[in-house]
Amino acid sequence: MPAPDSSRPELVAAIRAELARAGGRITFARFMELALYHPQLGYYTSGAARIGRCGDFFTSVSVGPLFGKILAQFFRKRRAELGADDFTIWEFGGRGGELRADALAAAPELDWRIVEAGEPLPDEMTGCVFSNELLDALPVHRVQVQGGAWRELYVVATADGFAEAAGPLSDPRLTAALAELPVAQMEGYRTEINLRALDWLEQMAKRLRRGWVLTFDYGFERADYFAPHRRDGHLQCYHRHQRHGDPFVNIGVQDITAHVDFSAVIECGRALGLAPVHFCEQGKFLLEEGADLIRAIVERDAGKNSVERNAIHQLIHPAHMGRAFQALLQQKQP
Ligand SMILES: C[S@@+](CC[C@H](N)C(=O)[O-])C[C@H]1O[C@@H](n2cnc3c(N)ncnc32)[C@H](O)[C@@H]1O
Repeated sequence: MPAPDSSRPELVAAIRAELARAGGRITFARFMELALYHPQLGYYTSGAARIGRCGDFFTSVSVGPLFGKILAQFFRKRRAELGADDFTIWEFGGRGGELRADALAAAPELDWRIVEAGEPLPDEMTGCVFSNELLDALPVHRVQVQGGAWRELYVVATADGFAEAAGPLSDPRLTAALAELPVAQMEGYRTEINLRALDWLEQMAKRLRRGWVLTFDYGFERADYFAPHRRDGHLQCYHRHQRHGDPFVNIGVQDITAHVDFSAVIECGRALGLAPVHFCEQGKFLLEEGADLIRAIVERDAGKNSVERNAIHQLIHPAHMGRAFQALLQQKQP
């Protein structure tokens, strides 16, 4: 039996009011923006988002301090490499600073600042722009092949909720992003396009003077992202560790997320002067960067079921976060 819908009535009313003002339909990206980031009532902005065991979903940060410890080592090396006194780590979507605390416990000399949704962007940055599960939380456009052509799936109001309605593509960048895909073979295929991720990257490229952009998230390269068997797209909702595909329930109290098309992020970065210097599975990245730490834990806790050994397993094992998550390092070109 489906769980009862626990949408926030004030947020539902605010979305319905916007739909009425907009002439009856809004893009899915705008719906997702309101559901997650409405200034007072959104899932993230209202404080409803709970991450970790007692929340809605896990992230590598909520697994424990190991992720932060390994990143601290990585940033130390990048700081030495850049040789800049003003090397700062700019963590986008760092919430209450859990990861920063984990990293600074290991490397207190690092200057680590957090920028959350809706906060002003720094004018200039030197060092490393970092995010973990930021891009998957940015609003996406939904599209579907109907009658042999790409149509956008908008959101409309129904008597007791919301539904999708197809219409023309709302942004020429969607047309460009979809142009290469073989629609003739894909009637009914639906997917998501994350233009906001590219907008965010553009802002980073403009403001980063020297250094890197390090992005962790779950996703694929293009061929896999748009593979024929992914015909229902990548949108997922999380509520109390239950994953499902209906964004029109639990509005304001559930996460809405979509996998990242890393090819789009890499190509966009290249055009903006951010060269992709490393792209691999999270497990590989953490094994490379944290080899000494991991070896020490495994040797120390051999034969024991310790918290840190479990964290290694969660973060690195291909069946957990090791393979589904990717690490992308882009470097600002002089
Ligand atoms: C899925 S959560 C990940 C939180 C944390 N990084 C972790 O790994 O546990 C996504 C976070 O990104 C934040 N966010 C969304 N859009 C943002 C933006 N444009 N700038 C900065 N943070 C943003 C959200 O508010 C939220 O805290």
